[in-house]
Amino acid sequence: MIINLEPCFHYGRTPPCVDRIISSGIKKVIVATKDPNPKTNGKSLQKLKDAGIEVVCGIAEERAKDLNAPFFKWITTGLPYVSLKAAISLDGKIATVAHDSRWISSEQSRLWAHRFRNSIDGILVGASTVREDDPQLSARTEKVYYPTRIVLSESGDIPTGARIFSLPGKTVIAVPEGLKKELQESFQGKAEVLLCRRDQTGIDIGDLLRRLGQKSITHLLVEGGSKVFTAFIEGGHVDAFYFIVAPKLLGEGISLMRGTTLEISNAICLEFQDVQRSGPDLIITAHYKKEKLEAEGYKRIV
Ligand SMILES: NC(=O)c1ccc[n+]([C@@H]2O[C@H](COP(=O)([O-])OP(=O)(O)OC[C@H]3O[C@@H](n4cnc5c(N)ncnc54)[C@H](OP(=O)(O)O)[C@@H]3O)[C@@H](O)[C@H]2O)c1
Repeated sequence: MIINLEPCFHYGRTPPCVDRIISSGIKKVIVATKDPNPKTNGKSLQKLKDAGIEVVCGIAEERAKDLNAPFFKWITTGLPYVSLKAAISLDGKIATVAHDSRWISSEQSRLWAHRFRNSIDGILVGASTVREDDPQLSARTEKVYYPTRIVLSESGDIPTGARIFSLPGKTVIAVPEGLKKELQESFQGKAEVLLCRRDQTGIDIGDLLRRLGQKSITHLLVEGGSKVFTAFIEGGHVDAFYFIVAPKLLGEGISLMRGTTLEISNAICLEFQDVQRSGPDLIITAHYKKEKLEAEGYKRIV
């Protein structure tokens, strides 16, 4: 048997996989990486060996760690793995001056994005995106999947007729502590209100992530708009960036980040990981540049 993660040792949604492997009569198990979950963490490898099964661990370990990165981050830190996806024009705009963003990217790229949404358990946008675009925030591929929808709002002003409140699945409205009771109550029966610590930008994103991790959100997809992108990027909270770059020029418009003035010397530096074509667009995967992260004491952990 060849597996990318050590089989589990404990009872969860299923009984321990390790026992099933032993009872099946398998003679050799090749495991890419140990499961850092303290409930397993090497115990299953030992149990397999004790049962007389040959065990090899560590084959293609780095690739397996990449594959399991969201789970590994969540299980070791309690924080969700944060992916940020933005559809941008070649001149870095996420919408026109009139706040029109439909559609910057191609149909193929939108399908890619829906497939990506299938792999996450939480999807987050800012209140303005809900007010302006009324998005569904679902993954619409062969089947429809509804990750937990999280909306950031400082004012609590979100139209209760928005689609996010009537679709299947869960909606969480994240607001700063101290938001008026009447506003909190306006979401009763429609969404859970998550009170988060305040910082100078509104909600303290680190505190929000801790609370989402406690709700078992292991992989959060941040989908915009500009103010939300800025809060996550500047705070150093993003584990993986996905830029869908369309061959369009929008001139004046809404930039990926706003309200931030940076010099070349203190630019937020990323490293490209991968680039792929998607119809007429490019999908660029990137991470923060590691040295820059360390130098600026960013909070990113993985
Ligand atoms: N191309 C893309 O990938 C893409 C994706 C999504 C959206 N868009 C476009 O982006 C535009 C909207 O962008 P935007 O910058 O105006 O708005 P936004 O980021 O969607 O929402 C901003 C609002 O979110 C809340 N918010 C953001 N950061 C917060 C924080 N740290 N703490 C508390 N609340 C916070 C505030 O809500 P309150 O006002 O309620 O206090 C704020 O006014 C739209 O035109 C949309 O079409 C483009």
